[in-house]
Amino acid sequence: MKTTLNTTLKSLVLAGAILSSTTLLADGVELYKNCAGCHGINGEKVALGKSKVIADMSVEELNQSMNGYLNGTYGGPMKGLMKGQLAKLSKDDISALSTHIVSLKK
Ligand code: HEC
Repeated sequence: MKTTLNTTLKSLVLAGAILSSTTLLADGVELYKNCAGCHGINGEKVALGKSKVIADMSVEELNQSMNGYLNGTYGGPMKGLMKGQLAKLSKDDISALSTHIVSLKK
């Protein structure tokens, strides 16, 4: 009896973990739809002839640049545009985007 309960608990925890990681991934996919027009479906484009190729950036660089646009510590001549793109997003949204962007096909 005890073992059964234990197994049930373990599978519940496991299911929860899988569920939350897919949610994170799904958010990134959904959110990235607003970015693909400029950055490319696979993050492969130089957006408006100005940005870096974001598919080549690491999670840390992506988080740093996006949080930097928001708090004014990062960016080139078109940083105002990117600040606008990110203005409505939470820190979790930005992490989800970074995770999604590094997973894009190179
Ligand atoms: C209207 C076009 C456009 C859209 C839409 C857009 N971006 Fe950008 N993005 C740019 C431009 C232009 C830059 C370079 C800005 C600058 O001067 O720093 C940039 C820069 C970036 C950078 C930093 C790369 C660098 O050059 O240092 C990241 C990361 C990024 N964008 C992610 C995103 C994400 C994620 C989204 C969607 C939420 C998004 N962008 C939507 C045009 C766009």
